[in-house]
Amino acid sequence: MSIPSFSIIQPTALRFGVGAVQGLPEVVRGLGGSKVFVVVDPGLVKAGLVEQVTAPLKAAGLPFIVYDQVTPEPGLTLADKGAKLAKKGGADCVVGMGGGSAMDVAKAISILLTNGGKAEDYLGLGKIKKPGLPKIMIPTTAGTGAEVTFTAVFINEKTNSKGGMNGDPLYPDVAILDPALTVSMPPQITATTGIDALTHAIEAFVSTQAHPLSDMYALQAIELISENLPLAYANGNNLEARANMLMGSLLGGKALATAGVGLVHAMAYPLGGMFGIPHGLANAVLLPYVVEYNLIGNPAKYAVVAEIMGHAEDGMSTREAAASVVDGLFSLNSDVGIPFSLDELDIPPAKIPEMARIALTVTRPVENNPRKPTLDEVIEVYENAFQSLGGE
Ligand SMILES: [Fe+2]
Repeated sequence: MSIPSFSIIQPTALRFGVGAVQGLPEVVRGLGGSKVFVVVDPGLVKAGLVEQVTAPLKAAGLPFIVYDQVTPEPGLTLADKGAKLAKKGGADCVVGMGGGSAMDVAKAISILLTNGGKAEDYLGLGKIKKPGLPKIMIPTTAGTGAEVTFTAVFINEKTNSKGGMNGDPLYPDVAILDPALTVSMPPQITATTGIDALTHAIEAFVSTQAHPLSDMYALQAIELISENLPLAYANGNNLEARANMLMGSLLGGKALATAGVGLVHAMAYPLGGMFGIPHGLANAVLLPYVVEYNLIGNPAKYAVVAEIMGHAEDGMSTREAAASVVDGLFSLNSDVGIPFSLDELDIPPAKIPEMARIALTVTRPVENNPRKPTLDEVIEVYENAFQSLGGE
């Protein structure tokens, strides 16, 4: 028997519901904010979605600055540039609206304004000493769960590698989850961000750091996402499916915030850092291959995942039920248009050894993984994920 040992800090207040974004001015004022720095990507401005945030601020007489330079897989300089602009503009509150990239940049800007220095100084764990400016996250994907985590991930342009800032001051003060904001998300983004959320939940569930509270979040997330992702992909206007996905993503974020993620995330890191593959897409393609490798590390828990996802059948042994998760994930990926192999992402197989070396440097997810991978094994899992190398 194992006795759980954990500590949980989940300071982020949640506001969930259709139209919840209308409450933003009240939230800003409640946090003592009087001038808001809004961090978004240019696509959100083009789609007119940013007005969902700026209109209520305007109506409430709250001045704001929109920083719309965020790119996918953001670099550290985006945070530094944003912090400079926010300081110049006298902002005292930061809003991150969008996917993980916008939220991560917003989280970093909030701590840079109070801690000083450069974004690069805070890569790693526990380097941030002071609380940041009040920060409010408004996800428009379902998604990264970044609205409830203490991490902000960046590309270090100097080294072309991916790295995270991790620390309690990065926890958002408030997350506003409005399913109506996710309706216009195109099917492909719905799919990749949705499988990312599923990856959080599965990896947290089988993590060596898992405990009953994280399991509770993870299991509910797995159920919500596996049921609703195909529905949201098939019809983006299905508001109930969108709401269930946003809830699933939130719960996946809560699970990972306390139990961590695993080898899928570690192996996805170099795909982002070396080739600019979006985080969700990299995770989605790798997920079934890594689960196949991981099965023997915790068959009992993978069997539970099979049951929740509806793949386990009567009379199956634990091992058989666990193995059915792999096929289930391949068919879910195929339903929502995720590429079957890394060949389709134009990743050169010659880079596998370098990718594997980098993946093993992503220490926390590797340590959380239910099976302890060697370099050769990571290479083999990457090879399996290339059809051109005779994988799967
Ligand atoms: Fe992720």
